[in-house]
Amino acid sequence: MTQVTMNPVTPTPVLELAGIHKSFAGIPVLRDVQLRLYPGEIHALMGQNGAGKSTLIKVLTGVLASSGGEMRLDGQAIRPASPLAAQQLGISTVYQEVNLCPNLSVAENVFAGRYPRCGLAQGWRIDWTAVNRQARELLARIGLDIDVTRLLSSYPVAVQQLVAIARALGVSAKVLILDEPTSSLDDEEVSKLFEVLRRLRAEGLAIVFVTHFLNQVYAVSDRITVLRNGQWVGEWRASEFGPQALIAAMLGRELAAQSARPAVPPAFDDAVTALLQTEGLAQAGHLQPLDLRVRAGEIVGLAGLLGAGRTELARLLFGMETPDRGVLRIDGQVVSFANPADAIHSGLALCPEERKTDGIVAELSVRENIALALQARLGTRRFLSHAEQSALAERFVASLGIKTASIETPIGLLSGGNQQKAMIARWLATEPRLLILDEPTRGIDVAAKQEIMEQILRLAQAGMAVIFISSEMSEVVRVAHRIVVLRDRKKVGELPGGSTEDEVYEMIAAA
Ligand SMILES: Nc1ncnc2c1ncn2[C@@H]1O[C@H](COP(=O)(O)OP(=O)(O)OP(=O)(O)O)[C@@H](O)[C@H]1O
Ligand SMILES: [Mg+2]
Repeated sequence: MTQVTMNPVTPTPVLELAGIHKSFAGIPVLRDVQLRLYPGEIHALMGQNGAGKSTLIKVLTGVLASSGGEMRLDGQAIRPASPLAAQQLGISTVYQEVNLCPNLSVAENVFAGRYPRCGLAQGWRIDWTAVNRQARELLARIGLDIDVTRLLSSYPVAVQQLVAIARALGVSAKVLILDEPTSSLDDEEVSKLFEVLRRLRAEGLAIVFVTHFLNQVYAVSDRITVLRNGQWVGEWRASEFGPQALIAAMLGRELAAQSARPAVPPAFDDAVTALLQTEGLAQAGHLQPLDLRVRAGEIVGLAGLLGAGRTELARLLFGMETPDRGVLRIDGQVVSFANPADAIHSGLALCPEERKTDGIVAELSVRENIALALQARLGTRRFLSHAEQSALAERFVASLGIKTASIETPIGLLSGGNQQKAMIARWLATEPRLLILDEPTRGIDVAAKQEIMEQILRLAQAGMAVIFISSEMSEVVRVAHRIVVLRDRKKVGELPGGSTEDEVYEMIAAA
C-alpha cells in the first residue's frame, strides 16, 4: 500500500470545494459535493458511471458554471470562467475525452492556442525554435524524450496521453486532474504513467485521478473520495479503505461476490460446423495468417497486449478491411465481405473500441443511437416506427442500466460509461448470430462490468457466438470458453476456458 504523503505539519488543502451544486434543466447532478486536495497527494475520485465525477471536474475547471458552492485555491475563493482561466490559476486538466490534434506535431499539440511568440511585432510571429525547445522541456519534466517535430499520430496512444498531460501542465501547476487517463493503456504503459504521477507528487502537486480500475487506485493513490448519485459519500485514506469497502461506498450496497462463469460450461462438439471459421486469413502488415473457429453459443476470448492484432482481426472479420490471403467461412460456406453491411447481412455485429470516432452520434438521441444498427440491417424497405425504436431503447436502458434522463436525451450528454453501454445495446439490438465485442467494458464501472459479462453469458447460452476482446485479462479468462492468444499480429496459441491469467501471460511471453 502506498504511503500517505500529506504533510502533517501544514494540513492546509491546496484546493477545497464545498457545497457544490450543479443541475441540468432543473435536474440535479451534483448535490452538496465536497473535495479536499493536499499538496503532494494522489487522490482517486471514484463513483459509478454517471455519479458526477466528470461534471465535478468540469465545474471546478470552468467548463461548466456551478449552480452553487465554494471553491478555494490556497485559501482564496476562485471561480474560473474557462479551462484556460483555471490553468492560469494552476489547475491543469486532462478531460475524459482528450482533444488533441493527431495531424499536428507533438510541439504544436503541447502549445496549440498559446504559442511563445517573438519578433518586433510582439504577439505576431510564432517562435518555432522556442516552441520546440519549450515543448521538449515540458516533456522532459514527465520523463518523455521524443522528437517533438514529428506528428502526434506517429506515436502510440500512451505517448499521446503523456503529451496531453504535458500540455495541461503549465509551469505553475499546483493541481493536476486526470479523468480516466488509463482506459486505453496497457499494463506497462500504466506503470510508466504512474511513475510520472509519483514524480509530480514528489514535486508537491496535488493529483486527482479518475479510473474504473480498482487495482490502479490502490497502486497509486493516497486518498479516495467517493461520489454516488451526485452526492458526496466520504473521503478515506487508501491504506485504510479496502476494495470491498470502496465498492460498497460506490454502490451503496455490497456487490454480490458471484462468479460470472456459467454453472456448467457447455461442451462444444468439434464435429459441429463452426459458425465462423478462418483458414490462414491474413492482411499484409496487419495480421499474419490465422486460423480461428467460433461455434454457436461459444465465447472465444482474444487475449494479447495492445497492438497484438486483436482489433485488426475484428476489422477483417467484419468486412472493414479486406484480407489479402486466406479464407473466411460462415456456416461452412466461403464468403468475402466487401463492407460491414455484408457482414451484418450474414449475422455479424462488431461493437468497436473507439466509441467516439466509430460509434456514437452525439447529437442524436439515446433512442436513435440504439436503433441505428438494427435499422441499417433492416434497410430502407422496413422502417422502424418511433414506437418500435422507443420500445427497443427502453428495453436496453433497463437491462443494461443506462443512466439517462430519458431515451430522447442526446447521447452526447450521457456520462462516458453510459455512452459505452448504449453502444453495446446498439449491437445487441441487431440480435446478431455472432457478436464481436472490442473492449466493451472500457470506462465502465465495476457493477456495470459484472452486468455486461452476465448479459454476454446469457446470450451465449441462448446460442449467440461471441468474440470477446479485452485488455483486462481477468475478464477474458472469466468469460471465455476458449482463449486465442495473439502477439505481434500473430496467433501464438489457444488455451481452454478456465485457464488462469498467468497461463495466458506465460503463453504471450513464451512466444
Ligand atoms: N450537459 C449535460 N446535460 C444534461 N445532463 C448532463 C450533462 N452533462 C452531464 N450530465 C449528466 O450528469 C450525470 C453525471 O455525469 P458525469 O459525466 O459527471 O458522470 P461520471 O461520474 O463522469 O461517469 P463516467 O464514469 O461514466 O464517466 C449523468 O447522468 C449525465 O447524464
Ligand atoms: Mg466521466
